[in-house]
Amino acid sequence: MNEKTIEKAIRVMKNAYNPYSHYAVGCVLIADSGKEYVGCNVENASYGATLCAERVALGNAISQGERKFEEIVLVSSGESLPIPCGICRQMLSEFGDMRVLAINNLGDRQSCMLSELLPMAFKLEK
Ligand code: THU
Repeated sequence: MNEKTIEKAIRVMKNAYNPYSHYAVGCVLIADSGKEYVGCNVENASYGATLCAERVALGNAISQGERKFEEIVLVSSGESLPIPCGICRQMLSEFGDMRVLAINNLGDRQSCMLSELLPMAFKLEK
């Protein structure tokens, strides 16, 4: 993984709106086109309305016309690794498989494929 991409994720993490959890996440979603799309978590007083960094980055990429992704890179401000939650796994799986790299504030890294995180993902036939 390109260290510049990780630095980009750390920069966007600093924009997280996280007054409830105080846990910041930064995300860089790398499209097959080679372009990179960023996102951070956006929390809400109605907690369930919170958007994870992954879904913010995905909306950003999709709205620019992207449909296929190589990798998603996640960094967090805490010791918990920012492994995508269930909703984000489902949202990302709509667009095929991709590598997932999660890094915590200690620099610990974990990488796997999205299909390992969400085997048997739900898909409508198209
Ligand atoms: N969060 C993310 O943005 N991505 C993850 O991979 C894990 C969780 C956010 C949601 C919420 O704002 C905060 O982290 C604590 O759950």
